[in-house]
Amino acid sequence: MCGIVGAIAQRDVVPFLVNGLKRLEYRGYDSAGLAVLSDELRRVRRTGRVAEMEGAALAEGLHGFLGIGHTRWATHGGVTEGNAHPHISDGELALVHNGIIENHEEQRDRLRALGYAFESQTDSEVIAHLIQHYLKTEGDLLHATQKAVRELTGAYAIAVVSQREPGRFVAARMGCPLLVGLGEGENFVASDVSAVVAVTRKVIFLEEGDVADVHLDRVDIYDASGARVDRRAHMSDVSLASLELGPFNHFMQKEIHEQPRAIADTIEPVIAEGFAPRLFGAGAEELLRDVEGVQILACGTSYYAGLVARYWIEEIAGLPCSVEIASEYRYRAAHANPNNLIVTISQSGETLDTMEALKYAKSLGHGKTLSICNVPESAIPRASAMVFYTRAGAEIGVASTKAFTTQLIALFALTGTLAKLRGRLDAAREHEFLEDLRHLPGSVQHALNLEPQITAWAEMFNHKHHALFLGRGLHYPIALEGALKLKEISYIHAEAYPAGELKHGPLALVDADMPVVVIAPNDALLEKVKSNMQEVRARGGELFVFADADSHFRDSEGVHVIRTPRHVGLLSPVVHAIPVQLLAYRTALKRGTDVDKPRNLAKSVTVE
Ligand code: AGP
Repeated sequence: MCGIVGAIAQRDVVPFLVNGLKRLEYRGYDSAGLAVLSDELRRVRRTGRVAEMEGAALAEGLHGFLGIGHTRWATHGGVTEGNAHPHISDGELALVHNGIIENHEEQRDRLRALGYAFESQTDSEVIAHLIQHYLKTEGDLLHATQKAVRELTGAYAIAVVSQREPGRFVAARMGCPLLVGLGEGENFVASDVSAVVAVTRKVIFLEEGDVADVHLDRVDIYDASGARVDRRAHMSDVSLASLELGPFNHFMQKEIHEQPRAIADTIEPVIAEGFAPRLFGAGAEELLRDVEGVQILACGTSYYAGLVARYWIEEIAGLPCSVEIASEYRYRAAHANPNNLIVTISQSGETLDTMEALKYAKSLGHGKTLSICNVPESAIPRASAMVFYTRAGAEIGVASTKAFTTQLIALFALTGTLAKLRGRLDAAREHEFLEDLRHLPGSVQHALNLEPQITAWAEMFNHKHHALFLGRGLHYPIALEGALKLKEISYIHAEAYPAGELKHGPLALVDADMPVVVIAPNDALLEKVKSNMQEVRARGGELFVFADADSHFRDSEGVHVIRTPRHVGLLSPVVHAIPVQLLAYRTALKRGTDVDKPRNLAKSVTVE
């Protein structure tokens, strides 16, 4: 987590640093700071949002041609101004850091013995003092940084400036993302492309262990061994408009409403190619042909996408499929079958738990690895043999919405491809599935049109403290997703159960104060779900049912029904994800929470 920026230019860099941090705020938002070099090194830090820090920077007239900035999600040390970045050493060197330094205690003891005083509880401050220590002995910021990072264990992306060397700054990464933005007579670094796209589209993604020496007119990059390397520059296609709110009030609202477009874009290559291995990159046919089973690894919402896919993969492709939370898998003595396909799902492509689970799978001998990801060039796809990029576009709201539904498309494409390779998908069925996909954006649009009715429900959820979500089969993961969305942004405690599990314990919670949301379209398990709903009604529980026309539900006392679009068949979970997202969004609005930046969370979770 945390976002970092750096800039060197012939103009004041403060506006770039502030705007860049605002774009990166989704990565962490409990405090922010800048350090800028003009005649002297000046720093501004504030707890709270970047806007508060911006106000202070303006009030203090902060300006300069060289500077770094940071927006924080606290790990080591509480949310205080003293723990906010940049950290300063000897009054002349400033550093920003994203990541976690594991050997910070031992480094701190050593640096204390060398006479450095610590002002914060952070692991990051040790890096500032360590570089300063070597700068004093080496006399060169690049060499000092290279030497210091070799002594760090853990993950970092850093940017460092020193008053001794006003013509350059140095940046480095290991385990956390960092890119260089190449301008005309000015250069930048940032945690992701959204922070630089207003000033340049030409970017270089730094690789693990790289150190970049950034000057006005050039950027020299060195690999972990210290050798000078050439890294390819990319032209980013992220548009500024995609990072703006437009007519919406929140990014989450915008992203919910973008789903017909995001799904249509993600479907496009599938419709064009059919269920073909090349959707997953060159060489995929070889890797996918003899797969004997599928192991899906992911966290949070991405994990729930995997749970939906398990039903598809087992039913359509006829392959055994397990889905596991990445942070559990990575510490389990898992039995590896190298003929199994490992699928990691991650919107950001940088979730540490998922990345480590992938590394662990590879260490067990898994070579058939596929990543489903929304961020090009991010770490997880780069560490995978195959990749499918969802075309959701930048997702900025912390609550994942369009990333989830497009992940489902990718997983459906994988299912169809595996089924076809295994001779289980004839041309007629393939055509039928492709037609279902083609109609999906329309069905999703119909689901979005339910917003006024869902807003009326949100009124009833406003003063509740708990909620239960029920579903069965393919729609059980949608119940899980609905509960996660509601708790994440409205702070109402919500849990999801497979409806059949209710009587084994959770039914004890049901009373008139417990709203029970049921995902109940007309599928093979509908009659079972109806019996489970009776169990709730008999205990005075109030039911909120999302059901399609064929489910034959009517409003009655204690039973509220919203008719979802009829999109029968295996893609129905995609359509039913929409109303649960809207319910969470509308409820959070009523409760006045910070929808896009819910408390204690951050968008990409690069810590354990
Ligand atoms: C969902 O709304 C979450 N904010 C969270 O669960 C998220 O899906 C999870 O952290 C995984 O992120 P990733 O897809 O970027 O790996």
